[in-house]
This record gives sequence, structure tokens and C-alpha cells, in this order.
Amino acid sequence: MPQRGFTERVQSRIPRPIGLTDVPATIVVGTQWGDEGKGKFTDLLAKEMSMVVRYQGGHNAGHTLVVGDEKFALQLVPSGVLYEHITPVIGNGVVVDPFVLLREMDMLRGRGVSVDKIKVSGNAHLILPYHQELDALHERHLGKAKLGTTKRGIGPAYADKAMRLGIRVQDMLDEDIFRAKLHTVLGHSNKVLTRVFNRLPIDPDQLADKVLAECLPILRPHIADSVNLVHDALDAGENVLFEGAQATFLDLDHGTYPFVTSSNPTAGGACAGAGIGPKHIDRVVGIAKAYVTRVGAGPFPTELFDDDGDKMVEIGREFGTNTGRRRRPGWFDAVMLRHAVRLNSLTELAITKLDVLDTFDTVKLCVAYEIDGERVEKLPYHQSELHRAVPIYEEFPGWKQDLTTATEPGHLPVQAASYLRRLEEQVGVPVTLASTGPGRDQFLHWSS
Ligand code: GDP
Ligand code: IMO
Ligand code: MG
Repeated sequence: MPQRGFTERVQSRIPRPIGLTDVPATIVVGTQWGDEGKGKFTDLLAKEMSMVVRYQGGHNAGHTLVVGDEKFALQLVPSGVLYEHITPVIGNGVVVDPFVLLREMDMLRGRGVSVDKIKVSGNAHLILPYHQELDALHERHLGKAKLGTTKRGIGPAYADKAMRLGIRVQDMLDEDIFRAKLHTVLGHSNKVLTRVFNRLPIDPDQLADKVLAECLPILRPHIADSVNLVHDALDAGENVLFEGAQATFLDLDHGTYPFVTSSNPTAGGACAGAGIGPKHIDRVVGIAKAYVTRVGAGPFPTELFDDDGDKMVEIGREFGTNTGRRRRPGWFDAVMLRHAVRLNSLTELAITKLDVLDTFDTVKLCVAYEIDGERVEKLPYHQSELHRAVPIYEEFPGWKQDLTTATEPGHLPVQAASYLRRLEEQVGVPVTLASTGPGRDQFLHWSS
């Protein structure tokens, strides 16, 4: 039986306004190691936008939206899709597995969400099965040095793009070109699969048949010139939101390389990945958890291996949206956030999951590191130093109060307000929003 339209079901749950009406171009960017709650804030901010554009990454992302008792975990489709007024755009900087996109569109349709307005850039690159196979094989080959990727084929797809061997979404529109390009790339990748990894080759024509038969007919009406769509919207005075996936310290250039993803989640990535110049950007909202988590390998100065960490994981349900992996927990790191402010030109911060700290006796904030006996306030550029960094904490008494119903700054206990105020001072940009639960209604406007 068909479900009632999603919007119809949740009319009463449209969030309160968030106050963005005169800000045409806003970027939402993760400021830590991912899973900060970008999906939730993209959904909230989208209420006052006409378009939401994903600019990088692929289905390594897992963005969760909670509306009433319904939960959506999105991988590729922009997090504004729940609104009928939004045009969700998958930008040129994204790597798209067409089978995953179809599955996600099916899932949304099945739950009563319209997917008709979804657009996919013809310039976005495709992730195809050999990328996923190579991702898993590279990880296995690395053994103990593995990165802990999501095995979604992200690295190999961006590598093909950089090698000028990639296949773009628009290539599907011309069968001859699509087949010829698959022959070329598989001429290369099959050698790696068979001779390096001792695997079976992938038949380019069989793969072409499958993609053209199963994916193209459904995706064809969604393939678009995303750059002009975005500019036409901005020129018409509409508000456009650029949704980052992953996060600042997973950035290929600025993250903790090699323990990073293969794209640029930082705000600059929105320019390349959506086709806008830096002067178009008006507002850059950094999303940060009130603590930190990280999935996969790599340095993490404030990581916790004690009961406090277990408590964060348990209360915050810190398991990957996609892969189910336990996220590594730690205290909020203002040193990293100060660097994230610089890298992204953050205009403000939205702090999420404040409620997860509700039962802690003490809440800690890392304000500097001690490295080889010296106090260091800036993120060291040499990563060996980051591995040796010992956090210097300021401690705050816990608020020991349920924040999940707090919807105004006045609802916050004085201890929680002091923590936010100090965090904001340390980071150097205003915290404008705080989130106190996964739901659409669970946020407050903050101003110290
Ligand atoms: P994203 O990748 O940045 O979009 O974040 P994820 O969706 O992967 O992970 C964030 C998780 O925290 C999701 O399960 C959200 O539903 C949940 N969440 C978001 N904001 C809050 C909050 O303020 N409090 C709590 N308890 N959960 C939240
Ligand atoms: P969202 O958008 C958290 C991590 C992986 C791994 C590294 C490289 O939901 O915040 P990849 O598959 O990209 O080559 O893996 O990056 N990673 C994420 N961690 N949230 C994500 O996305 C992530 N996407 C990739 O765990 O350490
Ligand atoms: Mg996530």
C-alpha cells in the first residue's frame, strides 16, 4: 500500500525558523573527523533554502535525519531531500555509485519522499564495482598500516579521476563513449586486479550492459548541468546550501594524511566541487560535536580509552551510520577547532550532542597541547608531533541535568552555558546553534 506523502505526515514537525533569509550561499562543513551532525543541521537549515548541494565525497558519508519517530540515513542524496521545496543537487565533486544512488532513491520513494527533483551533475565521476574491489584489496594489502576506509571505492575512484581515467556520469549518455572508456580503464585496472592481486578480471562490456540497462533509464532525467543550476538559483536571489561530507581533518590536503579521505571536505572544496567562486560564499557554518569522535585509523590527541570514552560511545550511540564500526571517542579539542576556523573561514559554529554529556561529573576541554615539554596552542604541522601531543585540559563541573528538552538558551543550566562560552572563546568564532538531541526540534539558538 502506498504511504502518504512524507511532507504530509510530518507537517507538524517542520522545524522552527533558523534565521537565514538574507544569506544566499551557506556552507555546512564538518570540523572534526566526521559524524558531527552535518545531516541534522543541513536538514534544519534547508527549511530556508531552495537548493542543497553535496560537493564532495560519496557513499562513504552517512548523514542521519530524525523527524518525529522516523530516521533517515543518507549516503549520497543531499540532506535537504525531505522538503518538497528543495532541489537536491549532487555536485561535480561527488563520486557517485549509480547502483547506490538508485537504491537510496528507491528507499526514499518507498517511504513517501519525492525524489523527482534530485539532480546529478554530469561531471561527477562514477564509482563502479572495480573501485570497491580495489579499495578492499588495497586495505588488505596494507595490513596493519591500513587506513580503515569505508571500502566504498572512494580512493580508487578519485585516483582514476586524477589519472584522467575516470568515467563521468555524462558518459553514460553516449553508449559508444561509455563502452570505450570502460575498456580503457579496465585495460589498466584489470591488470592490477589480476597481476597484482590475483583476482578475476571484470568484463567491460558486461559491466556496461548492466549499468546502461539498470541505471541509465532511471537516472537519465536526473542528470544535469549542476553548475548552471546553482548559479541560476543564486542569480534569482534564492538561498543555496552546500553540504559537506566527511570533515576538515579527513581532508586530503589538510587532514591527518594518510588517514584521510580522498577529497576536500573543507569549505574550499565547495568551490571546486560545486563550481562556485569563493566570493559567492556568505556564511560557513562549522559543525562540531561537544566532544570528538573518529572512525578508522590515525592520530587523535584527546582520544579516551577509559570509562568516560565508553560512556560517550554508549550514550551518543557512536557507531558508524554506514559501517556500524565503533567510533573512537575523545574530549573536545579547541586546538584543532582553531585550525578548522582558519581552513574553512568559519563564520560560526553549531555544537551538537551537548546532551550526551548530561550525566558526566566533569567535562573537559582541550585548550592546548604539551609537546616535548612545551605548551603549543597551534596545530603542529609535523604529524609526528601530533602523535606525541598531550592534551592540556580545562575542567568544568558537569551539569547533571537532562538537556534534551532545552530549546532556548535560558533552558541551559549555568554549567552547560559556561562550557559553551569557554569553548566559543577558545575557538574564536561564535557558537550560534546548539543541538540537544537527534530530533528536528532539539536545538536552540545560542548567543553568549
Ligand atoms: P553526519 O555524518 O555529520 O551527518 O553525522 P551522523 O549522522 O553520521 O552522526 C550523528 C549522529 O548523532 C546521528 O545518529 C544523529 O541522529 C545524532 N545526533 C545529531 N545531533 C544530535 C544531538 O544533538 N544529540 C544526540 N544525542 N544525537 C544527535
Ligand atoms: P560523514 O559524512 C566519519 C573515514 C573512514 C576512514 C577514512 C577514509 O558521515 O561524516 P574513505 O572510505 O573515505 O576512503 O575512508 O575516512 N570516513 C569517515 N568517517 N564520517 C564520514 O562521513 C566518513 N567518511 C569517511 O572511516 O578513516
Ligand atoms: Mg556520518
